[in-house]
Parts: sequence; C-alpha cells; structure tokens
Amino acid sequence: MTPQAWAYVAGGAGTGATMRANRAAFDRWRIVPRMLRDTSRRDLSVDLLGTRLAAPVLLAPIGVLELVHGEADLAVARACAAEGVPMILSNQASTPMETIARSLGGAPRWFQLYWSTSNDLVASFVRRAEEAGCSAIVLTLDTTMLGWRTHDLDLGWLPFLRGMGIAQYTSDPVFRAGLRQRLEAPGAQPRVTLATFDVLLQMMWRGWKSGLSSEDARRSALRFTASYARPSLSWVDLPFLQSLTKLPIVLKGIQHPDDARRAVDAGASAIVVSNHGGRQVDGAIASLDALPAVAAAVGGAIPVLFDSGIRTGADVLKALALGATAILLGRPYVHGLAIAGEVGVRDVVRNLIAELDLTLGLAGHTSVRGLTPDILAREGA
Ligand code: FNR
Repeated sequence: MTPQAWAYVAGGAGTGATMRANRAAFDRWRIVPRMLRDTSRRDLSVDLLGTRLAAPVLLAPIGVLELVHGEADLAVARACAAEGVPMILSNQASTPMETIARSLGGAPRWFQLYWSTSNDLVASFVRRAEEAGCSAIVLTLDTTMLGWRTHDLDLGWLPFLRGMGIAQYTSDPVFRAGLRQRLEAPGAQPRVTLATFDVLLQMMWRGWKSGLSSEDARRSALRFTASYARPSLSWVDLPFLQSLTKLPIVLKGIQHPDDARRAVDAGASAIVVSNHGGRQVDGAIASLDALPAVAAAVGGAIPVLFDSGIRTGADVLKALALGATAILLGRPYVHGLAIAGEVGVRDVVRNLIAELDLTLGLAGHTSVRGLTPDILAREGA
C-alpha cells in the first residue's frame, strides 16, 4: 500500500489505545478445550435476519477501497459471490452500490448508511439500496463526525478531500441535483500550488469516471465534506429511517448495555457491537469487553453482531461464546485485497472460516449456535 493508504487502513484514533485494547481483550479470554465428544461433524451455519449463512461471517463495510486496489469493491463483491459470504456495502464505497450489486451474484448484501445532513439524500440511498437487492440497512452510529486520526493528520491527507470514497454520492440523483447550489463563501478559493493542482487533476480524473465535469467533481468533494457529518443525530431520528423502508435496520457501533436496550425498544432488528476498529474514540473500551454486558442486556431479543479486532478463527469462536450471533470481518480482508485483489479476499475469508471450523472441533464443539461463555476462561480468573 502507499503510505497514505496504509495510514487510512491501519490507523486508528489518537494514540491507538482502542485498537490495542481490542486485541488485548481477545488475549485475555482463553478457550478451554473439551475432550472425547465426537466432533467429526461440525455445523458453522447460522440464521440471521431470515437468511441462513454457511458461516457466521460477514464482510464489514469498509470505505475507499480504491486506495488499496484498482478493482476495489468489485473485487470484494466477486469474492463474496464466490464464497457465499454477505457483503455490507459501504456508504463510502469507491463504486456505486448498483455496480457492486451486479458483481455480487446471489450473495446476500446489506447497505451501510451514514446519515448525512440531507434527509432527502438518506431517503435516496435507502431507496437505491432496496433496488440493489440489499436485505438490511446498517446505520453506523459512531461516526457522526470523523475521529481524530493521527496517521492521516500526520500526512495532511484525507481521501474524501480528493474525491475518493464518495461514489455513492456522485452517482446519486439527489446529490447531483444539489451540486448547483452555492456552498463556498466568496473568497474561499484555495491558492493554486503544485499540490492543489495535483489534487485538482485527481478530482478531474475521478469526476470523468463518474460522468461529472471537472467543476462538478470539485463541487462534489466540497459538498460531501460539508454535508457528511450529522453530530445532532439522536434516537428521535430513527422513526424517520424506519418510515422509509420495511427492511430490517441494524444499528452499528453499540458499546453500552443501555444503548443496546434502547436499540431493542426502538425496534432495531439487530445491533453490531463495534468501536469502528478503534478509529473513533481513543482510549475506549475494547469492543470484546463491551460484548458480554450488551448481549446480556439484549437477552436474545435480537441478534447481536460483533466487530473490532477479529483476526483469526479462534477470535470468532470467542466472540460467539461471549454472545455474538455472527461477526464482521474488517481490516484482514482489506489486507487480502491489497495483496491479491479478489483472490486475496477469498483467501482471507477461507482461512478464517477454516480455522474457525478446526478450532470449534478441537475445542470439543460441533455447532457455532448456542455457544456460551463457559467454554472460555478469563486469564487470571
Ligand atoms: C472502516 N469501517 C467502516 N465502518 C462503516 O460503518 N462504514 C465505513 O465506510 C467504514 N470504513 C472503514 C474503512 C477502514 C479503512 C476501516 C479499517 C474500517 C469500520 C469497519 O466496518 C469495522 O467496524 C472495523 O473495520 C472493525 O475493526 P477491525 O477488526 O477491522 O480492526
């Protein structure tokens, strides 16, 4: 990866304490293998929101994949189609959702939404997601503003400002219609230097690929940065989203048991226990440490999904034992994509599931359903 791509993918918030905590939490839980239990036949399948999955693994929504591979979301979609693994299409994808959907074959797909300042745009995204065959809307709650990401700040670099990762916007009729409205204050034109010229060239190229004029490409990046964040978002906004669609709504970014209870009361169909891979709040609780209390608060009312720190099949087993129905795989598949495109993503997914299968059996279990915390021991306990 380029230094910029690596900063964006591997970087986290602040000092990286949350990312480290995410991993350390996995190390504190240990699997206690059981013997002589005939594990010759094992079942990895789970039922999730009306779909039977062959394994409890979905690909997390990851934006700006064009940073790491030219085929970006399309390579991931083909990998999902080949492996039968669901893809969660990112709001910040490098490819319009309709194009990604065409590469997904029969693989299940959900759409991840960032709630921008425009409800009309939100409605348009949801409508397009329905038409692209998405079977759930995943509303990400933890990124109503972008975290303090020191790796990106050090490089003075953010993909969105170069028109990367905004393909859902530039392909959207509502967003495009708004491009003619004036945004910038008079006199806000940047001074033209070699660096700004380079940025402009990159934007023109991206704009051309999206069928935009160079001026509209520049306006798209500006309008996106002006409208993307909605820090005012609160629980009272959820009914609006529910009024737009009959699709299940999944709330991603839950860490506190009270928020989990509130999500159930608000009619969420599932939640994702996630701290965005440690990219939002530095010094936050490890996502795995948040999981048991959240799962207890939900009490089986809706599925609890999990991400942030999953790297191995054994990690998946631990998360399932602590209350997750399935997990979202994040950075590891981006690494696979960077190295070998579609084949790389497939390899990462297959290895993860193979290790889960083996670990399940070697630990003395035959199904990923109904695993409980007592198959684990807490280090030092
Ligand atoms: C993300 N994540 C993310 N989440 C989301 O809801 N929408 C998005 O567009 C993105 N984009 C994104 C880009 C990159 C480069 C990363 C690493 C992460 C968060 C993602 O869905 C997931 O929560 C984390 O990746 C989980 O952490 P680990 O396991 O990857 O460390």
